[in-house]
Amino acid sequence: MITQKSEHIKLDTELIRKDFPILNRSINNFPLIYFDNGATTQKPNQVIEAITNYYSNTNSNIHRGVHTLSREATEAFEVARKTIASHFKIKNEQQLIFTSGTTDSLNIISAGLSRSVLKNGDEIILSSYEHHSNILTWQLWAGENNGKLKIIPLKNDHSLDYEALEKLITPKTKIIAITHVSNTLGLVTDLTQIKAIAKKHNLIIVVDGAQSAPHMEVDLTELDVDFFVCSAHKIYGPTGTGILYMSEKWLRALPTTKPGGGTIKTVSFEKTEYAEGALRFEAGTPNIEGVIGFAAAINYLNRWGMKIIHEYELGLVNYAQYKLSEIPEVIVYGQSTNKAAVISFNVKDVHPFDVGTLLDKYGIAVRTGHHCTQPLMAILCVPGTVRISFAIYNTKTEIDFFIEKLKKVISMLK
Ligand SMILES: Cc1ncc(COP(=O)(O)O)c(C=O)c1O
Repeated sequence: MITQKSEHIKLDTELIRKDFPILNRSINNFPLIYFDNGATTQKPNQVIEAITNYYSNTNSNIHRGVHTLSREATEAFEVARKTIASHFKIKNEQQLIFTSGTTDSLNIISAGLSRSVLKNGDEIILSSYEHHSNILTWQLWAGENNGKLKIIPLKNDHSLDYEALEKLITPKTKIIAITHVSNTLGLVTDLTQIKAIAKKHNLIIVVDGAQSAPHMEVDLTELDVDFFVCSAHKIYGPTGTGILYMSEKWLRALPTTKPGGGTIKTVSFEKTEYAEGALRFEAGTPNIEGVIGFAAAINYLNRWGMKIIHEYELGLVNYAQYKLSEIPEVIVYGQSTNKAAVISFNVKDVHPFDVGTLLDKYGIAVRTGHHCTQPLMAILCVPGTVRISFAIYNTKTEIDFFIEKLKKVISMLK
């Protein structure tokens, strides 16, 4: 039963909205309402300016120059590492490796584990609501190594069936790779339960935090998992940048699978000695401006802190769920009052593309389709859903407008 829960800690959204230039845009003569934050968030001036400033004043390659610009660029890059590590409560910033995003990070993890831990015939556990990025890399390994993917099923309310998880585990099970928040349903995985089970069976835990990091406090010291990954562009930062956190054990033990300039101490044609720490995994010239922009985004969020942001967005999500539950033609998937800013729904007997296309006529950006979770779509027996996902600049007034126009769209399509 969804009740109207409208009280939430007030962020000054009017002020926040002024930081996001794109929110001044009109789409089809309506003010833009951007509800596609799960795909990527908009960027505040603070991030845009950090990138412009880097290119205007500091641009140079890092880690290998003695000249002023190179030293300044290196310093800005390494300060960014410290800022982001501190945000995620990572004790040793070397445990924070910069990658091109969640997908890249997951590929680096699976390549490393497949060379060190996984043996022919081993098993990996995933959940029913994984993003394709956290399926394909393991599936590729399984296909080539007689391995098996085992899937945690969903209960009737679309939450994960944790009791069924333990029954999936055999002596051949080595890894649980699981999303922290479902990008389609917004449901939050109970990592405490996952960790308890994984510890009991000595399993490696890989957490896909692409959809949790933007919406909630993530304390990686407390979480204490083997790997955690996320993308900057979903957290108000630039595209092409992400992080790969690994425990101290894996920082030393995960094999290098992506070698290149910057990852080494010494090289001869006979032998290479690799660098220690994060550098061992950061091959080639990294996305310097992306990392600097990401740190600017993190500094921006920390004006309020993730606790306040989470509560504000929870207020939005529960308000929107309540409003949607009043429309008889709407089916919400994975209804829960503990969600992270994402709601998936369908209008009965209407294709989600039609709903999304018509909402765009009113300037409302929603995502439609399978959201890179085709196996979940098969479980829900739908071709796709309409997904709305919120950020700190969204408001209840926008939700009211969206609900009004959704009702209009339904009346046009029915
Ligand atoms: C849960 C989840 N995992 C992985 C990804 C892939 O992220 P990226 O495209 O930034 O690598 C996404 C993106 O939508 C996601 O939501």
